[in-house]
Amino acid sequence: MKRIVVFLSGRGSNFRAIADAVERGEIPETRIVAVFSDQAGAPGLLEARRRGIDVHALPRPPGGSRREHETVIRATLDPLEPDLICLAGYMRLLSSEFVAAYRGRILNIHPSLLPKFPGLEAQRRALEAGEVVSGCTVHFVDEGLDSGPIVLQRSVPVLPNDDEETLSARILEQEHHAYPEAIRKVLSS
Ligand code: GRF
Repeated sequence: MKRIVVFLSGRGSNFRAIADAVERGEIPETRIVAVFSDQAGAPGLLEARRRGIDVHALPRPPGGSRREHETVIRATLDPLEPDLICLAGYMRLLSSEFVAAYRGRILNIHPSLLPKFPGLEAQRRALEAGEVVSGCTVHFVDEGLDSGPIVLQRSVPVLPNDDEETLSARILEQEHHAYPEAIRKVLSS
């Protein structure tokens, strides 16, 4: 059995898509062993609990450094021996030490066709730039911002009347296909 850990900070719709794919047997020989969040109130954690998955709400302590926060996270994470850590709307950057410890075993999903529009508000920036095609990217995490090797991308049209909300929804629908597909690809390679 391959062991996935999901990191999220909010809504958790990508987590749900991954968990559904695992339940349907679309990511064979795999289970989600835990969900971690830096936000104790993240809706994605409720969903994980509902599914009987172990959750770990580990907020960054006020005034604490990233290093201290990651030390706390790794005390719980490392013994789980994850084959893959899936960042799914996890709104924190990981340190180079963390990335080095799990190199090649951390995936992220981003709502643009990287290398275009890394960072926050990618959908809004794609609209402002007048893009006619956008999409999502699943990539390995390295030390940079949304810059690691790409596993796969899915594109969507940008329509003339799109606003940030309509474009984000169209991209999100593709994210929910892309993430399970990327995980399957990485775990089977
Ligand atoms: C998604 O748009 C993802 O691409 C980005 O954060 C959002 C998370 O959404 N990294 P959700 O929490 O999975 O619903």
